[in-house]
Amino acid sequence: MSAPLPFVGQKRMFAREFIKVLEAYPEDAVFVDLFGGSGLLSHIAKSRKPNATVVYNDFDNYRHRLANIPRTNALLARIRDIINEVEPNMSKGKRLDDATKKRIVECIRREEKATGYVDYITISAAIMFSMKYKLSLEELAKETFYNNIRQTDYPLADDYLEGLIVESCDYRELFERYKDTPGVVFLVDPPYLSTECGTYNIYWRLSDYLDVLTILAGHEFVYFTSNKSSIVELCQWMGKHKSIGNPFENCRCLTFNATVNHQASYTDMMLYTAA
Ligand SMILES: C[S@@+](CC[C@H](N)C(=O)[O-])C[C@H]1O[C@@H](n2cnc3c(N)ncnc32)[C@H](O)[C@@H]1O
Repeated sequence: MSAPLPFVGQKRMFAREFIKVLEAYPEDAVFVDLFGGSGLLSHIAKSRKPNATVVYNDFDNYRHRLANIPRTNALLARIRDIINEVEPNMSKGKRLDDATKKRIVECIRREEKATGYVDYITISAAIMFSMKYKLSLEELAKETFYNNIRQTDYPLADDYLEGLIVESCDYRELFERYKDTPGVVFLVDPPYLSTECGTYNIYWRLSDYLDVLTILAGHEFVYFTSNKSSIVELCQWMGKHKSIGNPFENCRCLTFNATVNHQASYTDMMLYTAA
């Protein structure tokens, strides 16, 4: 089971296990998918528990992409034609030459001018390597293009969001609205830390990530993370050292900027207790 259109970070690899986890909750539970993304978790929850209330927080306006699937299919068909004209049955993953790239860029430009809408994430998936996305033509045009286009249309997703309550707001606002609702189960799948969240419009720092933890205590939840965040390890450590607080609370801090190369730099710090 996967989301109808490409979405980095969708939890399709957890679908089967998530279905099993859902069985533990009552049929009339209230699931609030605070970081809805592609809506996959909400969709699964509603299809497995039709009598449950399921709230999908569509922070990224994924529903707009779904509503535009016919338009996206039409644009993909035109791009497919260009690729087929250059080389029929071109192998997947082959780099597209500059002339072909130019024709595709023009094709997308015309589409945007004519309709005012292009689903850049889906188009990126067709002509860039998987997981790489650009959100504008300007950005896309800087990339090398590859033939990763699918040969069939994306199926329409008219009933994908059926029965869901769709919201679009900051997760804290939604949490406030539902935190005292009896039977509420929060689905918590926050963005990956900082640089990993290339396609989202925001930049998540450790403190944002930790803020999410404050809403878990005292509630039923299903929480997703990765070992890259080390959040579980951090929480286990805090559990063992409950009284430590912040050892740096009254420290002074001196910093030193170090450059690794022209793309990467970091800041070294010296924290000290002397007045
Ligand atoms: C890891 S993804 C969720 C993926 C989702 N579970 C799925 O299966 O598609 C995290 C989502 O949180 C959204 N997000 C970022 N900041 C947010 C905020 N302040 N409130 C709610 N959602 C936010 C991101 O845009 C992204 O869609």
